[in-house]
Amino acid sequence: MTGGSRLVGEVRVTGAKNSVLKLMAAALLARGTTTLTEVPDILDVEIMAELLRRLGCEVGHDKIEATVEITVPETLEHRADYDLVRRMRASICVLGPLLARCGQVDVALPGGDNIGSRGLDMHIDGLERMGATVSNEHGYLIASAPVLHGASVWLDFPSVGATETIVMAAVLAEGVTIIDNVAREPEIVDICQMLVEMGARIEGIGTSTLTITGVNALQPVTHRTVSDRIVAGTWAVAAVITGGDITVRNANPEHLRIALDKLTTAGAEISTTDDGFRVIMSERPKSVDIVTLPYPGFPTDLQPQFIALNSIAEGAALVTENLFEARFRFVQELARLGADVRTDGHHALVRGVDRLSGAPVESTDIRAGAGLVLAGLVAEGVTTVYGASHIDRGYAGFVEQLTALGASVQAQG
Ligand code: UD1
Repeated sequence: MTGGSRLVGEVRVTGAKNSVLKLMAAALLARGTTTLTEVPDILDVEIMAELLRRLGCEVGHDKIEATVEITVPETLEHRADYDLVRRMRASICVLGPLLARCGQVDVALPGGDNIGSRGLDMHIDGLERMGATVSNEHGYLIASAPVLHGASVWLDFPSVGATETIVMAAVLAEGVTIIDNVAREPEIVDICQMLVEMGARIEGIGTSTLTITGVNALQPVTHRTVSDRIVAGTWAVAAVITGGDITVRNANPEHLRIALDKLTTAGAEISTTDDGFRVIMSERPKSVDIVTLPYPGFPTDLQPQFIALNSIAEGAALVTENLFEARFRFVQELARLGADVRTDGHHALVRGVDRLSGAPVESTDIRAGAGLVLAGLVAEGVTTVYGASHIDRGYAGFVEQLTALGASVQAQG
């Protein structure tokens, strides 16, 4: 890619990766055919589809209509193999539904993004409180629970994954489960809403405490995936970093309140539109401090993009990462473009430089890749982002959309 173009135009965001994968897993909870709409055309959806097929489901993915149709049989297999789980950590989200449906589950311990330790202790603790027996054997998490019962669960930290596992197990458990300190991300709300449409009884959706009364069975539904706030936020940063003007369609600015507020502080003019928002930037951005926190705090998945922005902003910014310690690894790559970033544990000090200069860089995960592409958009000369397959996992049609907005970018290989 060659930096220097102002990005101008319109982009439309589809459903959130971090929601649709879990919605696909939630489909396991009901026999029959569940249809999901606004499904992004990304590799992780294919991996999840393959995982569901191996569990015995029929899965059809219509990329033109952006739908996935999952037909779930009466009897499911209960094993998620390492060859798929290692390609996508989110595979772990079949843990709760399979335990609820089959009474037992073997899931390979996940790999996925290289962004920190990412434990499973809260998932396991929640399931044990509901009566499951969990062990780790030969690289597999083996859980069994002939009967799951309601329980009182308290999460040490509002983990997205642990909240989803426990909710999906609790909807078919006997009795009432109360989960405190749950994650409140829009994707969690989306899953809870789909479960309610399926017949689940969940109170407190969108708050820190969920009360779930188990039911005997759920019904399949058609559900529209919530829009991807991280993709929308990435486009917002793209407008600001390039001094451009981008209208982001099918986006919910409410889901990006802090991030958009930071961009306003950086100098952007942001307005809401019928189905999204518009970001206009006409000056050099000012540095903005950020602190990542669980929702509604600033999302860790936008942290690399904001480091890229700060790297060419006026002034210095302090960035604090509270979720994934290894996420700062990408600043070494950003430094290859001439960024001035010093890290110390959870903190990064970003001193804005007047210009970045294009270079080959390596993307280590989805969001780091997005951050490097954003930096490449403003770096003088040619930037080559290696490992761009990571980016494809989170951004459907990224290169095409960048091109349509006026960027000079080519996909290779
Ligand atoms: C999800 C998102 C990811 C996002 C993250 C935080 C998906 C597929 N991924 O990841 O893009 O960055 O939420 O918004 O939806 N932890 C434990 N023990 C546990 C569970 C988590 O220690 O049992 C720790 C993790 O190591 C991490 C932190 O809690 O440091 C956050 O994890 P969590 O919120 O669960 O994120 P994920 O579901 O993995």
